Amino acid sequence: MSLKVPPLSEALAKAEAKLSGVLGGECRITVHHEFPDGLARMVEGIENRKFRQELQYNLKELVERSKKKGFTVILFTLNGEPFAFDLGYNDVVENTYFGDSAATLIERKGVGAVLTALDALYSWEAGYKAVKMITEDQDEAGRKLVEYWGRFGFHVTKRDLKVGVEMRLDLTPENVKALCDRYID
Ligand SMILES: CC(C)(COP(=O)(O)OP(=O)(O)OC[C@H]1O[C@@H](n2cnc3c(N)ncnc32)[C@H](O)[C@@H]1OP(=O)(O)O)[C@@H](O)C(=O)NCCC(=O)NCCS
Repeated sequence: MSLKVPPLSEALAKAEAKLSGVLGGECRITVHHEFPDGLARMVEGIENRKFRQELQYNLKELVERSKKKGFTVILFTLNGEPFAFDLGYNDVVENTYFGDSAATLIERKGVGAVLTALDALYSWEAGYKAVKMITEDQDEAGRKLVEYWGRFGFHVTKRDLKVGVEMRLDLTPENVKALCDRYID
């Protein structure tokens, strides 16, 4: 088996084709490092629908995050309408990308898995050694989130009653390629 990790541009095109087929419309996936008002509002709109109030970021909090080093948003649209995003930036731990928020309005169709595979591939290509995120065992809707992230190779690194469950994915060519092969190809 070749261990060649695909370029992000190639994976984006494949992911668009895959999700366009699955979702029955024109899916576009774009990567951004700036946060114009329109884009921030799109992310806020998805955030507000998918997270309970205490976990939602408002526009000001989102814009604050956009000033962090390494700030990146991957945005998915279907027929021009935003429906999923992944947002992150440099973690305090060197060479680590902090995946701060991710959500999809269309669930259980493979969108979350594509988001995660693209997030890992983006981070790998940008030179990070790991992706870190904070989640909870189960959310208010019954989604088993530690289990969900575990299926992509994230492992628990810390548990804190106030902060939540910290998880980490080590970025190796094997891990990143396996995610692309399984969820994008
Ligand atoms: C968590 C979330 C991103 C998952 O996205 P999704 O598009 O529904 O996930 P997918 O359809 O790609 O599923 C990927 C895998 O996880 C499994 N899965 C998805 N949701 C699940 C759930 N609620 N419970 C158990 N398994 C689940 C799928 O069966 C699939 O399994 P496979 O790898 O064997 O094929 C989505 O539910 C969401 O946006 N939730 C609200 C916001 C949120 O919780 N974000 C994460 C914060 S840490």
